[in-house]
Amino acid sequence: VTTKSILITGATAGIGRTTALHLARAGHRVFATGRNPAAVAELATQAPGTKLEVMTLDVTDPASVAEAAAEVHRRTGGAGLDVLVNNAGYGKVGPLAEVSDAELRGQYETNVFGLMAVTRAFLPLLAPRKGRVINVSSVGGKVAMPFMGAYNSTKFAVEGLSDALRVELIPLGMDVVLVEPGPIRTRFEATFVEEAAAYQRPGAPYAKVLARLDDIRKSFDKLSVGPEVIAQVIERAATARRPKARYVAPLSSRLTLWMLALTPTRLRDFIFRKAMGLPGRGQNPTLLGPAPTTPQPSVPAA
Ligand SMILES: NC(=O)c1ccc[n+]([C@@H]2O[C@H](COP(=O)([O-])OP(=O)(O)OC[C@H]3O[C@@H](n4cnc5c(N)ncnc54)[C@H](OP(=O)(O)O)[C@@H]3O)[C@@H](O)[C@H]2O)c1
Repeated sequence: VTTKSILITGATAGIGRTTALHLARAGHRVFATGRNPAAVAELATQAPGTKLEVMTLDVTDPASVAEAAAEVHRRTGGAGLDVLVNNAGYGKVGPLAEVSDAELRGQYETNVFGLMAVTRAFLPLLAPRKGRVINVSSVGGKVAMPFMGAYNSTKFAVEGLSDALRVELIPLGMDVVLVEPGPIRTRFEATFVEEAAAYQRPGAPYAKVLARLDDIRKSFDKLSVGPEVIAQVIERAATARRPKARYVAPLSSRLTLWMLALTPTRLRDFIFRKAMGLPGRGQNPTLLGPAPTTPQPSVPAA
């Protein structure tokens, strides 16, 4: 296998960290990036004797993105990059009736606009080497689940952007690859559950349902695999001569997606509603509470 130069975003934890170390140990030149300078410095010590290099990069900060691209250009002596792995991202749980605009925008800032800003900044470094972009999406980028709509929708966006960009880059001999992990054991789930706490205040519309989230997390955890599984998939996507357009992993998630593709939407809704312990159709008409009292608009007399 020829060694590649590879940049990874969000490499200070979870899938990104495991992938950065895995690729470095496999002999690749890895630019492992993260937004937290202390975590980035710590990461630098983790693979001695390899070609692991670190760099700060906050995907939501345009100046940081531009600086990282310039820095890679400098460090490679203008030779550029073979692979960009857009991995940085997080998941926000919450009922869509309650997720605020700021929270929704926050999700998009990192998972969608951040990913695109990094991609745009690095395309000129990738093009001369006929490089490729690997976008870490999710099984949740193919199927939306209740209370994960904010997050899922960002991954749906990543899927759409990647499918379009892949064709746009064909003339350059470049590729765009989607990696779609199922449940992976990282900090991700804990973040999910922590986030949900805000919607469990007494009297909150979905408090009772969300109180079960920790049980749901535990059953998810049983299905989870370690981040090494995704690190290996990313390595394959990075080094294959002709990569697939998408890689779903682990295998159990591939099977789940196949099954869900054959399941009519209403049946899928039923399964997800039951799994979340939501009441049946019309069984809780006051779920959202009383309508807010708004001042009567003064209608000028005709
Ligand atoms: N775990 C799963 O079950 C799962 C399933 C499907 C897809 N995914 C996707 O896999 C990717 C990695 O998730 P993970 O499970 O490894 O989560 P994680 O353990 O929480 O790690 C997320 C990484 O992204 C970084 N990050 C967040 N915001 C950033 C920003 N603005 N700029 C730069 N880095 C940022 C985090 O840095 P900080 O430490 O500074 O926060 C951290 O290094 C995400 O895109 C996620 O959606 C995960």
